[in-house]
Amino acid sequence: MGMTVTVQLSRSVPTKVDAVAVPVATEGAVPRSLGLSRAALEKSGFDGSVGQTLVVPSSTGPTQIAVGIGKPGSLSTTVLRNAAAAVVRAIGKRTSIATPLADLAGVDATKAAQAVVEGTLLAAYRFAGIKKEPNTNTLKQVTLVVGEARTNGARIGSDRGQATAAAAYLARDLANTPAGYMAAHHIAEKAVEVGKASGLTVEVFDRDQLAEMGCGGMLGVNAGSTEPPRMVRLTYTPRNPVGHLAMVGKGVMFDSGGLSLKPSDGMLTMKMDMSGAAAVLSSMSTLKALRCKAKVTGYLMCTDNMTGGAATKLGDVLTFRNGKTAEIQNTDAEGRLVLADGLSLAVEDKPDAIVDIATLTGACMVALGTKLAGVIGNDQPFIEKVKAAAAATDERIWQLPLEDAYRKLLESNVADMRNIGGPHGGAITASLFLSEFVGDVPWAHLDIAGPMSVDADDGWLSKGATGFGTRLLIDLALSFKG
Ligand code: BES
Ligand code: MN
Ligand code: ZN
Repeated sequence: MGMTVTVQLSRSVPTKVDAVAVPVATEGAVPRSLGLSRAALEKSGFDGSVGQTLVVPSSTGPTQIAVGIGKPGSLSTTVLRNAAAAVVRAIGKRTSIATPLADLAGVDATKAAQAVVEGTLLAAYRFAGIKKEPNTNTLKQVTLVVGEARTNGARIGSDRGQATAAAAYLARDLANTPAGYMAAHHIAEKAVEVGKASGLTVEVFDRDQLAEMGCGGMLGVNAGSTEPPRMVRLTYTPRNPVGHLAMVGKGVMFDSGGLSLKPSDGMLTMKMDMSGAAAVLSSMSTLKALRCKAKVTGYLMCTDNMTGGAATKLGDVLTFRNGKTAEIQNTDAEGRLVLADGLSLAVEDKPDAIVDIATLTGACMVALGTKLAGVIGNDQPFIEKVKAAAAATDERIWQLPLEDAYRKLLESNVADMRNIGGPHGGAITASLFLSEFVGDVPWAHLDIAGPMSVDADDGWLSKGATGFGTRLLIDLALSFKG
């Protein structure tokens, strides 16, 4: 676990470097250092599109890696993050690179360096695994080559990028770790350790405390498990806070579906069903270092969802922290049950807004695919803030409606509501369920079931858990003003 790549700044390309990135646009001059004409590049199929690379080995100096940056004048942090990642995907066995990507005109030096460092480090990530010979990543050192005028800005951006990437590494490590090694008590212990190191107050609540608190959603989901649940409350309190943001994360450590058992293939990635909790913990680990001005309270709702003899049965009724009840008609719709308690608790802290993040529905994945998370909420101005954070971090989201007309799909004869809404509009009905627990606090729900993982390396996403949401939540917290 942890970061194994060092990042440094330099005015010039270090003498002992394995590879140098050479940005090339789709038009205009090709940098001389590459030693190739545009015609020669084009013959090799390289036209400068974003993310394209061409490796040009040299017998005398470092390998040159041409990297496409798209149309002249189209530079953005998105382009830089993608280009930086593409370079890492092209390094082969080379362990050190120098890159001038943060020095290009058109993007502010701080933002450029942050994007380049993020793209580089996120692409370099590999899960160590549980192996006699752990997986290691190839890249060991990256040098940002930046001119004098941009050095100060770039240093700040580089530090920020290293912080956000380290947080995403933490989220990925947590989600990639098998459920047998990452039960509720393990993530709670990790939260204590991370919180201590990053200036957070950490409170851990066990099963008895959750029972005393009336968290019937947590207990109901946990009922079929031999692993006890944990709820973790994290608090970040700056001096003179400018606002108070609450974050609630779904921490289902393994989702078997419960008695509404999933088919085997559907369970394969369900060690990652705690990705929401991982995003909350990892993002909060950066707030002090990044001087967040808002108070942030985080809730990790951690339990697995199993089928033991005491498991919640279909038709059972659970009572949540806020006193509302739900008839369980499908034990696989468990995320909303743990979030119900988490949202109720968050409301009691009287925050200015609540964001929850959860691998909540296959339906959201059907609607938006694997590259976009869904966002649904009750307050458009707050949703716009979440969208701005998503745009700034390239963690893409798309809004779905909190459609009142579907509310009656949740009606139950025996309880205040039932926990499923029927065959259609599953991401929306899940959100309508959650909305019963937020009172009138501005709230946005992020459904990250789709972008939770990738099957193969893809730009700055590395095979396995993506850490989606970590950088979005950091950005949201840093810009939050109540
Ligand atoms: N954790 C799953 C959702 C999920 C599916 C996340 C695939 C990531 C990838 C969630 O608990 C679930 O099982 N949802 C059900 C809800 C249904 C029973 C109403 C679903 O989407 O099928
Ligand atoms: Mn489920
Ligand atoms: Zn789940």
